[in-house]
Amino acid sequence: MAKLKVAVLISGRGSNMGSLARATMDPDFPAEIVLVLSNRPHSPGLELAQEHGIDIRVIDHKEFADREAHEAAMTQALEEAGTELVCLAGYMRILEEGFVNEWRGRLINIHPSLLPSFRGVDTHERALERGVRVHGCSVHFVTAELDAGPIIAQAAVPVAPDDTPETLSERVLEAEHNLYPHALALIASGKIRWSGDSAVADSDVTEHDVAVFPNPL
Ligand code: GAR
Repeated sequence: MAKLKVAVLISGRGSNMGSLARATMDPDFPAEIVLVLSNRPHSPGLELAQEHGIDIRVIDHKEFADREAHEAAMTQALEEAGTELVCLAGYMRILEEGFVNEWRGRLINIHPSLLPSFRGVDTHERALERGVRVHGCSVHFVTAELDAGPIIAQAAVPVAPDDTPETLSERVLEAEHNLYPHALALIASGKIRWSGDSAVADSDVTEHDVAVFPNPL
């Protein structure tokens, strides 16, 4: 079966993109990465993508008059690469409604919290401030409302009493690297899809496919 053509949007380190790239090296993985696109010229993730032999593009937001123009240029690059699904992986700019609507149902994101808790930035700091015992990460379809689109899969991560934002973020990042390829495989194999305004799963998708529970600390 033809593999789903995926583009990954990054702004920085690109470790989630790296985990997707590693997963796609498996010949049986149902998706391939056709492009890694960064809005920042010096994202370390660009080098990582090249090491994997993946085409890269930089579309620097600073070179555009406004967000709409920047995002129209991104859509053009994505279309030129034959993109069927866009994965946001540490893409740290809020996307305009036009772009989100253009890629509606074909745009997913990984977010470092158990949504709908802790939308936005500084999720690990806020989770510790609130004293949560379980934190985690979510892969979701992107809608115009920030970090509020239908949830595809989540991984829970325990919070240790002596955690700092750094130690907690490391533990969550490990879970992200496991969850994102797993969620992408579910989408690429058609087992979970966008329908109406929801993420709809096939009847053979179990809770183990979409909910990852923590290893003990
Ligand atoms: C990841 O933790 C990702 O979940 C988060 O940024 C980090 C990027 O790391 N994304 C967001 O906060 C988006 N709202 P990476 O560049 O190493 O993948």
